[in-house]
Amino acid sequence: MKKLILITIFALIAFLSACSNTPNVEDDDVDCTIEPTHEDCTDDPNDYPVEPTNPLLDPSYEYIDYNEAFDQDHYDQIMVEVEAILHSLTLAEKAAQMVQAERGSITPAQVRTYGVGSILSGGGSHPSSYNDSADVWYDMYEAYQDAALESGSGIPIIYGIDAVHGNNNLYGATIFPHNIGLGATNDPELIYNISKATAEEMLTTGINWTFAPALSVVQNIRWGRTYEGYSENPMVHDRLTYQAIAGFQDAGVAATAKHYLGDGGTYNGIDQGNVIVANDIVEALHLAPYLEAVKADVDTVMISYSSINGVKMHGHDYWINDVLKGTLGFKGFVISDWNAIHQLSGSFEYQVEQSINAGVDMLMEPSRWQETIQAIVNNVNNNKITEERINDAVSRILYIKFKRGLIDDPYARLSTSYLYNQEHQDLAREAVRKSLVLLKNDDNALPLAKDDTIYITGPGANNVGYMSGGWTTYWQGNNNADIGVGTSIYDAFYDVISSNGGQLVNNMTDASTVVVVLAETPYSEGVGDNGTLTLTSGNAHPDNTTALQIAQTAQANGKNVIGILISGRPLLLEDHLESFDAFIAAWLPGSEGGLGIRDVVFGDYNFTGTLAFTWPIDFAQVGYTSNEEDYDEDSVLFPFGYGLQYID
Ligand code: BGC
Ligand code: BGC
Repeated sequence: MKKLILITIFALIAFLSACSNTPNVEDDDVDCTIEPTHEDCTDDPNDYPVEPTNPLLDPSYEYIDYNEAFDQDHYDQIMVEVEAILHSLTLAEKAAQMVQAERGSITPAQVRTYGVGSILSGGGSHPSSYNDSADVWYDMYEAYQDAALESGSGIPIIYGIDAVHGNNNLYGATIFPHNIGLGATNDPELIYNISKATAEEMLTTGINWTFAPALSVVQNIRWGRTYEGYSENPMVHDRLTYQAIAGFQDAGVAATAKHYLGDGGTYNGIDQGNVIVANDIVEALHLAPYLEAVKADVDTVMISYSSINGVKMHGHDYWINDVLKGTLGFKGFVISDWNAIHQLSGSFEYQVEQSINAGVDMLMEPSRWQETIQAIVNNVNNNKITEERINDAVSRILYIKFKRGLIDDPYARLSTSYLYNQEHQDLAREAVRKSLVLLKNDDNALPLAKDDTIYITGPGANNVGYMSGGWTTYWQGNNNADIGVGTSIYDAFYDVISSNGGQLVNNMTDASTVVVVLAETPYSEGVGDNGTLTLTSGNAHPDNTTALQIAQTAQANGKNVIGILISGRPLLLEDHLESFDAFIAAWLPGSEGGLGIRDVVFGDYNFTGTLAFTWPIDFAQVGYTSNEEDYDEDSVLFPFGYGLQYID
């Protein structure tokens, strides 16, 4: 443990000293990002707006030393009960506890016969239809739970789902910004509240296990999962991870720290690829958030599809057994990713053997769950896996089932009044405001006046589906403008403009301000891997091309041109930035994107978001991050920590 912490601290010091000669603090005593109204910050009219100082120097980035959440007495009490159950189980029943099936591939009758330990809904795997109500979800959950209680072991299932930005598979749930936006807020309390709200919306369906938060420390924005991570820099994870987990677990939902280990560090950002760096770098960059996760007493850890130096994580005895369960002292259970063990070598039975012996406790085998139970039993009978190892795995699973209250009350549920309630909408809107990063604001192009004459265009202008991105309604996201909840940018602007004497017009010529909303189309996982990253290729929306032409023409005609980019990562802006007087990175803001953007664009709130990712100038610079010891802020388009503000 000591060595790992030392390395993290060493890395921290390295970051700090690398940046200690950055001269943007105006005065020895005054930091204008903290005291923007201080006279030293406001007396020069050219200071409007100023760049905040690099957050690496900002005290708000300081490491927060949270308490160990683990409660030894409670653990000991539970383990007495776990022991008693464990001894009453047959080998087949134990093996079944170690298996997770997908709802589409298992019936309640099969749960009754086999007594599996867990069921999941994959991305977009609804009980029957995309707009199923919370009651329909609960009925499904209840039917499985009834069956589990009637099975031989009588042990309730734990049901897992990817509630990664709100309970995003449930129609009508609040959709919060994806993690890339939350990283830009750098606000641990906000992150706690979002996890808690997400947990409450999950519990309206009875489901109490989320496969979140992703703790990916993303080193290359080509990766399709970039937006699932908070930042390129583990300092941001150090601040946010504990609260992200505590928010779920305080509300009664089991969290999952994923994907262990190094998912964000694969060569060239290839999804499920290979991390090729020395172990001390793996520790400093990728293991760091897991120290926080274990401190927060996270219930489960999901293993990454990826490899470290050629060894698949799902068979990585050293990182799982020695480091996670040994050095870090993780007490919960380890789950494999979707069919991930199939990427190990040899027969299926051998894949099961390798992963369980490396420390995986539960196997996410969406459709081959029956075969998996048999493979575990065979491996024990053939002396490939010890009974002791099986007992350890099942104890961990039962421990979490007790800890989450499933054994005492498997039917617990919250009222559907929690769904998309006002409090959650307000919270999501606050998160949007705080996540926006103002990249450019020439001649105070922003804030806009509410009585302005505005033309809004571009593919992201009137589409809540695009603002929500992947893992919304469906695995690959929802392309519909109307996803049942939320307000588009167009609608949000329309309301404020029309009630303040302004006008939204239908063509550029009549407008004094032109707002161009560029977008990526939704994607998740490897589908989003992108080898070009421009505004007009790869996952970028094809209509960006026309929108950029409009921006250019508007600029040539002397209009005030505002750009808003809806995207899961920085995209290469090339020379397009010249067409805009102001430019905002809005990430994937979710259902309240329109209202949160409006709040800041019209000056009711200030911008506070800062880049948690380096914004590269060109493709050659992709992969260059603030983790470099000699990080040169001036060499990139916008450095880590950048973000403008209004100062009056
Ligand atoms: C993803 C995980 C996810 C799981 C279940 C996998 O493909 O990598 O992040 O939790 O599916 O949907
Ligand atoms: C599922 C996801 C899963 C993915 C893995 C999809 O069909 O819906 O949950 O992560 O497959 O490839």
